[in-house]
Amino acid sequence: MRELANVNGAICALEDAVIPAEDRGCLFGDGVYEVVRAYQGRLWGFRRHWKRFQRSLREIDLQPANLEEIRGWIEETYRSSQIPNATVYFHLTRGASPRSHAWSDPLNPSFFMSVRPFADRAIVAGVKVQSVPDLRWRRCDIKSLNLLPNVLAKQQARKLGAYEALLVDNQGNVTEGSSSAALAILDRTIVAPPQAPSILPSITREYVEEIAVALELAFQQRWLSLAEFRSAGEAFLAGTSDEVTGITHVDGQAVGSGEVGPWTREIQKAYRERIEQRRD
Ligand code: PDD
Repeated sequence: MRELANVNGAICALEDAVIPAEDRGCLFGDGVYEVVRAYQGRLWGFRRHWKRFQRSLREIDLQPANLEEIRGWIEETYRSSQIPNATVYFHLTRGASPRSHAWSDPLNPSFFMSVRPFADRAIVAGVKVQSVPDLRWRRCDIKSLNLLPNVLAKQQARKLGAYEALLVDNQGNVTEGSSSAALAILDRTIVAPPQAPSILPSITREYVEEIAVALELAFQQRWLSLAEFRSAGEAFLAGTSDEVTGITHVDGQAVGSGEVGPWTREIQKAYRERIEQRRD
């Protein structure tokens, strides 16, 4: 087992990875990324992540000629790490050039990837979330490297003793977490925000929508105000890293019983089973 990196096709130990200082990812956040989990030696949901990655690239007008080769690098680097349960991060930036907002073609896009183990959480106790104004740009459907508002929101939540920030837009509606989707359950209905440019199309949420059918829960897309979200019977986060994590408190106020709700546990269980059965 080795923590590995891949920089433009070259695999190295993660601590030895070096990126040029004038990389536009570093100067401008000019690039897009994905976070994928691997379970028991296999990349989970990779096809879906790859599709979203390609969409993000198109949306920022970054079209590398060697996309298929990059896909091969990801698979090969993960295999070489021999880390069964891993978090795989990768990004592509518009490459390195003297700092100037506009770019001139042709550029040489720059790839970076890391593979690290993660500790498998057998029991998810549930988490507290803290509402924070959503100060992000209007294209959060693009998984861009510009994460400053997300980082600041998460930090603010942590300072206040919460695990995740619950982002609230100008209309007072809950958009998502700083690095997760946020869903509520009201009367046997999972409620998620409509797929809009103001939220990331979460892959874990997609799985939850599919699981809802099997559990005979309705799945509805509509905006929830912070007050509605807070007063839901159950609420949970969904994301590659958080999987399905129950929300016990919003702004210090208990959601439902103040413990992870029974439907949330069913969804967690079903998600885990899908992973074990490799049904991605
Ligand atoms: N975050 N919303 C935001 C803003 C996110 O950053 C993420 C994922 C999600 C959940 O998406 P998915 O189910 O596809 O992982 C929703 C990753 C894990 C991260 O930035 O670390």
